[in-house]
Amino acid sequence: MTKVICSKCMSVHDNEGGLNCPNCHAHKKHLYDFSNSDTYLRKEAHRILQDRKIVGLQGLVGGLQCVVINTETRHWTNAIQELLQNTGVSYKESFQTQDKKVCVLGQKDSADILIQQRIDPKEKNPFAVFNQHPKSMHLPNTRLETYVYETNDIGKYVDIQRNRGVSFLSQEIEHNDGFSFIQTQPSMYTGNSIGFIQWHTRQRTYMSDKANRFHDVLKQPIEPFKKNINYIDHAATRVKAEHRDQAIIEFMELTNYTFDFAIYVKMFNSITNVARLSDKDFAMVFTSGVTPFISLQESGPTEKFIYNYGPRTHHLAFQTDHIEDTFSLLKQRGTGFLIDLVGSPEEGLKQTFTVPSDNTLLVNEYIHRYGDFDGFFTKSNVTLLTESTEKQ
Ligand SMILES: [Fe+2]
Repeated sequence: MTKVICSKCMSVHDNEGGLNCPNCHAHKKHLYDFSNSDTYLRKEAHRILQDRKIVGLQGLVGGLQCVVINTETRHWTNAIQELLQNTGVSYKESFQTQDKKVCVLGQKDSADILIQQRIDPKEKNPFAVFNQHPKSMHLPNTRLETYVYETNDIGKYVDIQRNRGVSFLSQEIEHNDGFSFIQTQPSMYTGNSIGFIQWHTRQRTYMSDKANRFHDVLKQPIEPFKKNINYIDHAATRVKAEHRDQAIIEFMELTNYTFDFAIYVKMFNSITNVARLSDKDFAMVFTSGVTPFISLQESGPTEKFIYNYGPRTHHLAFQTDHIEDTFSLLKQRGTGFLIDLVGSPEEGLKQTFTVPSDNTLLVNEYIHRYGDFDGFFTKSNVTLLTESTEKQ
């Protein structure tokens, strides 16, 4: 029996042999097999592009400005130090508000990384519910929580999206001298929030008007390989098989991204789906099972990861030059990896995954594309990398 999704009410259910939707009774022509075909997703992607134009969203949301990673208080400094050690980022600023402490890391031509901890015990963490899984519950406040995109008219954006039923974490847009900001409620499919920032000055600081700046005593490592590790190329979020389509559709409805392609690794029951803004911009990857989780013995690494950690961002991928030397130097310095470098110049790219961080639960990917390779990923690398995550 195959699972189908109803394009009218978005419910997922077993197909009982060509019947109408058992939930909303829509005609069977509205039911799509979500697990082995991209037909439904492509049709929806087309509809969303049309809708964006009709409601005035087209062009309102631009590129990724930063990602927000929240950690437990006791891991905050180590999380910052670790990113300074293992990637090309430098320290930019740190500040404290009434409810959080934030350190901003960044580098040229890349989205920034904000490492945050909540300091007000009375403040409820809206993401905590997504962290209650066998291998994530020991870090109930730890995850990559938010992807923040630029908008050129935050008021218009929020008006349009509220009318379409989008819920934001705050009633009001936060207005500061330097920027205005708002973010969505975490997605029930990914546990990710999407944030929107409108810059008002050329000096791009994330410090709100009420925040206090402080300088942390941080060791800025001078590692020879740091200069080889560049911008955030993509991030990958793992979602349940039955939520793949909804997660991508939701993301497309909030941003200017579109579904580009999917690589099926049926051997490991896994699909790697890529959403893009342009071929130059940060790409958002969604990895899901082909079919839903059955058991730890029978399911593939992707569905097992979601069972163990919950839906969440699995890795941040950094574009890396001299990737062989960089990989060797990182290894010599003690960085653990799930897999050796995979791929080759002939295939067009090389990639590898570190072991997950004890401080953020995130894996770092290092990726290098050779020459004019424009395929983004190769099926052989995706297969090997997917298999390596079995070790998590
Ligand atoms: Fe990746």
